[in-house]
Amino acid sequence: MNHHPRTDFDLGEVDRLLTTTKQVRQRLDLTRPVPYNELLECIDLAGHAPMGGNLERNRWMIIDDADTKSAIGEWFAAVGRPYLALNAEAPADDRSRRVMDSASFLIDHFTDVPAFVLAMRLDRPPNHSSQGQVAAYYGSVLPGVWSFQLAARARGIGSAWTTFHLEHEAAIAELLGIPTTVTQVCLLAVGYYTGDTFMPAPRRSAADVTYLNRWKQPVPAAK
Ligand SMILES: Cc1cc2nc3c(=O)[nH]c(=O)nc-3n(C[C@H](O)[C@H](O)[C@H](O)COP(=O)(O)O)c2cc1C
Repeated sequence: MNHHPRTDFDLGEVDRLLTTTKQVRQRLDLTRPVPYNELLECIDLAGHAPMGGNLERNRWMIIDDADTKSAIGEWFAAVGRPYLALNAEAPADDRSRRVMDSASFLIDHFTDVPAFVLAMRLDRPPNHSSQGQVAAYYGSVLPGVWSFQLAARARGIGSAWTTFHLEHEAAIAELLGIPTTVTQVCLLAVGYYTGDTFMPAPRRSAADVTYLNRWKQPVPAAK
């Protein structure tokens, strides 16, 4: 156990959760349904994420009906396939090639994914929004999506954040009976993951991406 002297959290476990919650596509177990109560538990936990004004304007939908998945899958593929084909033309490093393979896999197996969790907000982004309004708008719903992914990962459930379908937001809203006043922000593909764990991906260090007081001014290592 790696307890921080000032808290009772097991930091080793917390940090492992934060570094190994990956976007899971090829390792989704397509044969095993995910019980609704598990998903509701994750949504309950996601509800604790911060929201501007604490307004609780987020809504969720679990989608596991085969015909509905297949209809959304067609729109998803209609955007995803050309996007990936375009990216395949550009020379990519190994890491982005793996992401593209994984994204193609999801397109090919969309209907077999046990469930999708659609994250929504009860209103539309303000018209002609300022940058600040846009930041506050999405900032009030996306932290909950990440909390959902963390809570799911801790329960053996993998998820993958997707947005391809959003090009067809209106058609999907009509299919699902979602009012035009509601905004879809992302669709999580969800399923138990296969294998035991995930490895953290290489990421740039904090020192590399953090400045002190002034643009590009490095933070001294020890203070
Ligand atoms: C805002 C956002 C939108 C994304 N949209 C898609 C998508 O439409 N399709 C898809 O396969 N992956 C999508 N991804 C996942 C990324 O392509 C990529 O797999 C991920 O960021 C890599 O993260 P990882 O280190 O957790 O695996 C999206 C991720 C984010 C944060």
